[in-house]
Amino acid sequence: MKFIAGNWKMNGSAAALKNMTSALRDVDTKNTVVLCVPFTMLTHDTDGVALGAQDVSAHDHGAYTGEVSAQMLKDAGARYVIVGHSERRQYHDETNDIVRDKAAAAIEAGITPIICVGETMDEKQAGKTMAIIESGVRESVPTDTNGKIVIAYEPRWAIGAGLTPTAAEIAEAHTLIAKTLESMGLAGTPVLYGASVKGSNAAEIMSIPNVDGVLVGGASLKPDDFIPIITSMK
Ligand code: PGA
Repeated sequence: MKFIAGNWKMNGSAAALKNMTSALRDVDTKNTVVLCVPFTMLTHDTDGVALGAQDVSAHDHGAYTGEVSAQMLKDAGARYVIVGHSERRQYHDETNDIVRDKAAAAIEAGITPIICVGETMDEKQAGKTMAIIESGVRESVPTDTNGKIVIAYEPRWAIGAGLTPTAAEIAEAHTLIAKTLESMGLAGTPVLYGASVKGSNAAEIMSIPNVDGVLVGGASLKPDDFIPIITSMK
């Protein structure tokens, strides 16, 4: 069984979500499917599809204008939340410390954080990929996970770019993440690969050792693109 998460980013509408969840209802799969949508599209009316958000406040309540707490996400229908996505790290200066606090807030509220780590092109070219991945995992994962986290390896240079690392590079990254999690007492944590996943490469990516699923951006927006990814792995 694989874990397939869609990240709608700042796209979609309530009508598009309804269209997607009713299409997903008829898909015959044992895989876990989650759609991470903008806050305003969270709903309890999901045709049985699990929803997630794309960010969460590290604080539980109070004077934090514009922020949304993990408990509020839960009330609105979210079961998951992406934290530390590359675009949050890039445009909102989110560090591993901030990501860890957000993940901890989600866990506390009973929401599973999907914690993203990955290297930029500059870091890759400087030969720092493995160091960035390992410190990303060590520093972004809270001490007390309650067995409730998912990790996503997203090479930041490949997101939305139509580029993917080689299968050997993905395998090396995922093996390092699995070993790091094991050394933290978190063996068995699902680790997703994300960046430019589509119907044509999903099965190959999901067959790489230590890849437990995928986090899909652009190709999760339309049923015709997303469903083949889900069904490419039984
Ligand atoms: P992409 O995005 O599939 O469009 O590359 C992945 C992501 O940002 O999670």
